[in-house]
Amino acid sequence: MRNNYQKIIEKCGFVDVPVETGIDFKAEILRLKKEKNAVILGHYYITPELQDISDFLGDSLALAQHAEKIIADIILFVGVHFMAETAKILNPGKKVIVPDMKAGCSLADSTPGADFERFIRLHPGHIVISYINCSAEVKALSDVIVTSSNAKKIVESFPKDQKIIFAPDKNLGNYLNSVTGRSMVLWDGACMVHEKYSLEKIIDLKNEHPDAEIIAHPECERPVLMVADYIGSTTALLNYTTTNKSHKYIVATESGILHQMQLKNPDKIFLPAPSIDSTCGCNDCSFMKLNSIKKLYLALKYEEPEIILSKELLLKARNPILRMLELS
Ligand code: 13P
Ligand code: SF4
Repeated sequence: MRNNYQKIIEKCGFVDVPVETGIDFKAEILRLKKEKNAVILGHYYITPELQDISDFLGDSLALAQHAEKIIADIILFVGVHFMAETAKILNPGKKVIVPDMKAGCSLADSTPGADFERFIRLHPGHIVISYINCSAEVKALSDVIVTSSNAKKIVESFPKDQKIIFAPDKNLGNYLNSVTGRSMVLWDGACMVHEKYSLEKIIDLKNEHPDAEIIAHPECERPVLMVADYIGSTTALLNYTTTNKSHKYIVATESGILHQMQLKNPDKIFLPAPSIDSTCGCNDCSFMKLNSIKKLYLALKYEEPEIILSKELLLKARNPILRMLELS
């Protein structure tokens, strides 16, 4: 089966992988899920169509917490590679598959394990706190992992004079330094979606809609965070729009979350924050959007591509993630 799928992709490229004519992908996915005892985990940034067929939808923290407890045989992880790796590390007995192995992350890609190891050696006496958006190799080099939901709490769990390296997101790191009063040494990585927001255009939009609140993910650059009325992780932003009284929001994070905001708040208005080039679809994470319904179907059919990690790496990367879950 495995070789078959790989060979077909190599031969015709993914878009031309043949499927049965007139296939109802959604119905087939539901059938295969039942037949193979599989569950679908999805991140808020995938398309609304894929969000709607996920068994569990969440931000990075909720997905990690949920993945650890799954008893089904197969986890189909619809998000990006580091998230699926985290699920495998937390639940190594399960087969973890993804719709597209190329769904990576600019933050994770900014931190090759060997370079990061050298960086750590240059800073003796520092502990290493890594954002979950990194490879298993980088996790294995870290003392504790954080997500945007728990980063502040975990940083503050260390003594004030503790020297800390924070990687890979310099924007989240800067934000954490500002709210915790720490001076963590930052790795120079950024998210290609969140660093593309245009402060000028956001202010123009706010002038057009003075009744709108600006809400932003801490992966955004400092100038955007400075004009935000509320800063929080994806789940925190979603909860804020649900519990807060304002009826209009300018949302500076990946556009996929607008689907859930709108579903939970049908009477409220959500405006995507504009990017430097509003014609480029910069608010979409091109990695997250590599996932498609056809790829979900094929992944379940062939049980491929699968996340495979060496035993040694699984073990080394596990402890810093478990430490995060304990501290969350
Ligand atoms: P959260 O899911 O922690 O909000 O992170 C956002 C993100 O960029 C995921 O890649
Ligand atoms: Fe990575 Fe940014 Fe995409 Fe999240 S939105 S997966 S941080 S590139």
